[in-house]
Amino acid sequence: MDKRLKIATIGGGSSYTPELVEGLIKRYHELPVGELWLVDIPEGKEKLEIVGALAKRMVEKAGVPIEIHLTLDRRRALEGADFVTTQFRVGGLEARAKDERIPLKYGVIGQETNGPGGLFKGLRTIPVILDIIRDMEELCPDAWLINFTNPAGMVTEAVLRYTKQEKVVGLCNVPIGMRMGVAKLLGVDADRVHIDFAGLNHMVFGLHVYLDGVEVTDKVIDLIAHPDRSGVTMKNIVDLGWEPDFLKGLNVLPCPYHRYYYQTDKMLAEELEAAKTKGTRAEVVQQLEKELFELYKDPNLAIKPPQLEKRGGAYYSDAACSLISSIYNDKRDIQPVNTRNNGAIASIPPESAVEVNCVITKDGPKPIAVGDLPVAVRGLVQQIKSFERVAAEAAVTGDYQTALVAMTINPLVPSDTIAKQMLDEMLEAHKEYLPQFFKQTKAAAGR
Ligand code: G6P
Repeated sequence: MDKRLKIATIGGGSSYTPELVEGLIKRYHELPVGELWLVDIPEGKEKLEIVGALAKRMVEKAGVPIEIHLTLDRRRALEGADFVTTQFRVGGLEARAKDERIPLKYGVIGQETNGPGGLFKGLRTIPVILDIIRDMEELCPDAWLINFTNPAGMVTEAVLRYTKQEKVVGLCNVPIGMRMGVAKLLGVDADRVHIDFAGLNHMVFGLHVYLDGVEVTDKVIDLIAHPDRSGVTMKNIVDLGWEPDFLKGLNVLPCPYHRYYYQTDKMLAEELEAAKTKGTRAEVVQQLEKELFELYKDPNLAIKPPQLEKRGGAYYSDAACSLISSIYNDKRDIQPVNTRNNGAIASIPPESAVEVNCVITKDGPKPIAVGDLPVAVRGLVQQIKSFERVAAEAAVTGDYQTALVAMTINPLVPSDTIAKQMLDEMLEAHKEYLPQFFKQTKAAAGR
């Protein structure tokens, strides 16, 4: 091992950080990280200190020589970094709660990634990511950007379309969660299961499923379709079961997020009920976070607490650290990530971001060609890609009409008028994080 690596994690005060630290500890023998810099903004200082102290105890207990640095100075953290990971949330969970609640008033699912909520999360996040990339060009031009910040597909699309940063990978735990779920249904270890993933972030399908190299797609679909079984799902998305004949007819594995599109009425009813009772997902997570940070404060805690697995992002450290290790070690193994399509999925523009199985090399992910997506799912995937592209354009330009088009073409939004009402209310609610929409010309300001 020649050089020890420097990783900078932006949004280091996140409750998910112990996941990442655990992943780095587990892989220290193959991924020699010398320094992990956890960066946050002043509002996140307290969380950064709590989670940073836990990270220090974790590496100490594990006996690995990873130095943990805590800072509010992003530029210092980026200087000379080999990998930059981004896991921040502009406006925090309060902003997410608004993304979820405001659309519900109009009878629309908010959804913090692909729905109207996802549009606003993108509008708030993309300018910050572009700013980080400007700093990276200056301070660590050779570093890889590994983005977990949602909406990860839209963010990756924006980076590929509006910057020169080629070393970018968008990462999500949905594919690994699906693989774990299928393994559980089959009663086998996850490393015996392989899934051919293709689509977009939170819009990914398992086209074929293999157990020990033998295709078992039909069997898995039968298992998931069975009314008494719980399908492949995640902690943050309610599992209402699927119409068995729909799933068998579709004959590919949907991801948990497809419930929003194929079960819109039931998911909306469920979300309206939750909003009245236990709260939206953001509000539930706010409570969970409080509990997590109370645990993190315990000076005797020096491992990732199991309670973290109540969050939707379970296994993300495995996905992230395997990816970083495969790039560093030129492993050439196969992992599903968000990257430039380059023709791998025929029905999506070659320059766009897709989530697809890739061979992970030292030069980054090389997408594996799948040809066209099955006709039954192709249209929805293309529609979401259009939504992501228009939303990314709105985030960069701050153009109202572009944002309205993005909102209206989202499949969860029923009409242009409702789209406009939601857009106006959400722009106002998130004003402080959306300066690009509220720029005043000098002439107008002086009036
Ligand atoms: C899933 C998604 C992540 C998302 C998370 C939300 O795992 O893949 O992109 O951030 O759920 O989980 P939460 O516990 O915050 O609702």
